[in-house]
Amino acid sequence: MYRYLLRLMFLLPPERAHHLAFLAMRWSTRFGPLRALVAKVLVTDDPILRNTVFGVQFPTPVGLAAGFDKDRDCSDSPRTGRLFRLPEDRAIVNRMGFNNHGAGEAANRLRQRRRTVPIGANIGKTKVVPAEQAAEDYTESARLLGPLADFVVVNVSSPNTPGLRDLQAVESLRPILAAVLDTVTVPVLVKIAPDLSDEDVDAVADLALELGLAGIVATNTTIRRDGLNTPQSRVEEIGAGGLSGAPVAERSLEVLRRLRTRVGDRLTLVSVGGIETPEQAFERILAGASLVQGYTGFIYGGPFWARRINRGIARKLRAHGYRSIADAVGATARV
Ligand SMILES: Cc1cc2nc3c(=O)[nH]c(=O)nc-3n(C[C@H](O)[C@H](O)[C@H](O)COP(=O)(O)O)c2cc1C
Repeated sequence: MYRYLLRLMFLLPPERAHHLAFLAMRWSTRFGPLRALVAKVLVTDDPILRNTVFGVQFPTPVGLAAGFDKDRDCSDSPRTGRLFRLPEDRAIVNRMGFNNHGAGEAANRLRQRRRTVPIGANIGKTKVVPAEQAAEDYTESARLLGPLADFVVVNVSSPNTPGLRDLQAVESLRPILAAVLDTVTVPVLVKIAPDLSDEDVDAVADLALELGLAGIVATNTTIRRDGLNTPQSRVEEIGAGGLSGAPVAERSLEVLRRLRTRVGDRLTLVSVGGIETPEQAFERILAGASLVQGYTGFIYGGPFWARRINRGIARKLRAHGYRSIADAVGATARV
């Protein structure tokens, strides 16, 4: 039944399927009895998975990555031509940009939401705002959303907003991060691209330490297209956008390892990119991630994706003799 439903979803255009999945999630959490049922089926409640990082209690280490809940609602009617499935690669290309109604609207919706799990506000620069005014733009979003979220992620790594990724250069990033840190009281993290050179990854890590950030989210989608199974002609037809899913996994893990080597346990590392299985999630935890996230894995794996990963991690923790997630974080990292 579950497989059948998932296959049906794949017959729909990607953005319509995404919209439907989002609506289903939203409505199922709106009504008391249904919410309880959904929570029982989808949520994993196991003490070994609980962890407190940057002062926030996470019931499990697995979360939904940024972009799914674009407007804390996704009320944008599903348009087509911005989201493409590459099933041969278990990947997605998206050029959604920040298709939301702005931080003010997101704040309104967040205010109406009953909070059941920690929420991070992922903020990105508005397309029309020039790079020189980026700090003000991020600050404004942070001012609106910071008080309503458990943590804020400064996203300077989405490929769909022209020039955004240039803000990862430390001289551009420093004033942005400093301004956001001045604006909010909740922990602040920065999200980076897998396409940064190793030296740039180190530079962002050093800056994060210097400024006293809570952590780094690695990684966003890639603009690379090498090594894909999807025919070249199809890849070209799809065109520009951020590639996510299995093809990002290797570089995402590499960036995580590099970050851990650089910062040790002084920053919280959140690993995202191509995570599909409990084995991969556990590997990220051992490599230094306190939290893991996924988007494409959820699309291909369906609504039980997080539960499957969480349960798998719990089994692995016990099998390896760890008493908690915190015990396992970075256990295989070279520092
Ligand atoms: C359709 C779509 C929209 C996304 N939007 C955002 C976004 O607004 N902000 C952000 O930081 N990352 C965004 N991402 C990137 C994801 O959060 C994640 O970093 C990336 O997809 C890699 O993880 P995955 O391989 O598990 O999908 C988006 C990804 C997809 C597929």
